[in-house]
Amino acid sequence: MSARRKREWFDDDSFWQDLYPFMFPEQRFASTAEQIEKILALTKPDGKAALDLCCGPGRCSIALAQAGFTITGVDRTDFLLDKARARARDANMKVEWVQMDMRDFVREDAFDLVLSMFTSFGYFDDKGEDLLVLRNVFSSLRSGGVCLIDVMGKERLARIFQPTTSDVLPDGTMLVQRHEILDDWTRVRNEWILFRKGRAKSFRFHHTIYSGQELRDRMTQVGFTDVRLYGNLDGDNYGPDAHRLIAVARKTVG
Ligand SMILES: C[S@@+](CC[C@H](N)C(=O)[O-])C[C@H]1O[C@@H](n2cnc3c(N)ncnc32)[C@H](O)[C@@H]1O
Repeated sequence: MSARRKREWFDDDSFWQDLYPFMFPEQRFASTAEQIEKILALTKPDGKAALDLCCGPGRCSIALAQAGFTITGVDRTDFLLDKARARARDANMKVEWVQMDMRDFVREDAFDLVLSMFTSFGYFDDKGEDLLVLRNVFSSLRSGGVCLIDVMGKERLARIFQPTTSDVLPDGTMLVQRHEILDDWTRVRNEWILFRKGRAKSFRFHHTIYSGQELRDRMTQVGFTDVRLYGNLDGDNYGPDAHRLIAVARKTVG
């Protein structure tokens, strides 16, 4: 982490470590190759150099490598990059792993495709820093390159919002989720409480929630043209029933 920045929730490695089994069950890895097929159909990149921004344990990076891409995976979390390295080794795939904050990673005109998957965008208290990330992505794309961002959209959240929900996970752990909307419906503060073997552990995190229009405006602001919104990776329309907000935008220069 850069010394000039204040410490935020995502800088706590134990957050990613303790929640790993719930965020990254094996079935999430198992469904990734199919997701990548859909992503390639939606984005149609011109070349085979790709950046997986906030790559975590390397799900998409490794599946892209298996699809013949030259991959750079960037993430800040040591623990997750170690998982990614081990999985790439097991799959016999070569990936360049870079430990860096997404606000700092920029590599001019290097990539044909940039992915930000599974709600890895909108983390910063200062929304100007989300814009900085988009500027970095835009600069890192080659002319004609394409970017795909996958988050939960504000329209969907507004439709399904419940302050408290609870689930029992396959291993018997109870997960209670509490949510609070902040700052005029621009941010959500979450608390996840895990109850396991008579013990409770709580995790707090918060992030910006973008509507389709807000995300498109931010992307346009940094130079992207023709920003298309979809409700899933199959390319269905975006709207309040859409499970995801998928933005696909191209860098057209000149
Ligand atoms: C929900 S996970 C998604 C991982 C991956 N994109 C996927 O689809 O499986 C979010 C990821 O963002 C990373 N992350 C959080 N804040 C970051 C930052 N400021 N810079 C770089 N990576 C960050 C975390 O370490 C984590 O791997």
